Amino acid sequence: MPIGVFDSGYGGLTVLKEIVKQLPEYDYIYLGDNARTPYGTRSFQTVYEYTLECVQQLFSMGCELVILACNTASAKALRTIQQKDLPRIAPNKRVLGVIRPTTEIVGKYTKTGHVGILGTSGTITSNSYPIEIEKFYPQLKVHQEACPMWVPLVENSEFENEGADFYIQKNLKSLLSKNNDIDTIILGCTHYPLLINKIKKYLPQNITLLSQGEIVAESLSDYLVRHADINKKCSKGGSIEFFTTDAPENFDKAASVFFGTAVQSKHLIL
Ligand code: DGL
Repeated sequence: MPIGVFDSGYGGLTVLKEIVKQLPEYDYIYLGDNARTPYGTRSFQTVYEYTLECVQQLFSMGCELVILACNTASAKALRTIQQKDLPRIAPNKRVLGVIRPTTEIVGKYTKTGHVGILGTSGTITSNSYPIEIEKFYPQLKVHQEACPMWVPLVENSEFENEGADFYIQKNLKSLLSKNNDIDTIILGCTHYPLLINKIKKYLPQNITLLSQGEIVAESLSDYLVRHADINKKCSKGGSIEFFTTDAPENFDKAASVFFGTAVQSKHLIL
């Protein structure tokens, strides 16, 4: 049974890339809901309905374990799927997100106790990061900034151009103005690793940037060690299949930027 990796579009490929680096022996199915992207600006109900539909699709393709490699879906849909849907539709299957692994370890990085979060409007307004961080590190202060222009900049291949500098500077300035002691920032969106060089350019050097790919991959690796029953069900043939709900030729063109190598996808009708 392959491990399912889901995202609203391309962003989850930055997570899959790191997962495959750490766990190359497993089989994977990636599903990008490009026909309905972006999720970051949509309501709770819509993100939940779309995400559940995609998770069920991955279940029907044989996945026993699905990773929501999308912060917006993890923020707005994961808890309901885990608590209400799974017991009813697939009690033995598992769905994991990308927010918890990052919030579990953030306390190890900050010395001042002030953490910044950058994410889509949906992720920020859900308050998922402050809520999750509070569970592990109640003493930390969390400061958030929605960056609604960053995903469109990446999606439109503008991430290396001057327009990106403008919006990155603007949002970083706004985040840092919330507290002078912020010393650790979480990139809470799967698209943001593509902006990392420009983000670093505008951040003081003493600030630690946490990008999710490696963190999620390590957490998954640890999860599979701790859950031998699930691990046993995951097939180990080293394959990756890519599916998109939009046109595969468009997906393949853009996907390699996120994944690092060429990608050949198939169309999937939900
Ligand atoms: N992948 C989404 C995330 O990590 C961002 C893209 C979107 O808005 O659909 O939040």
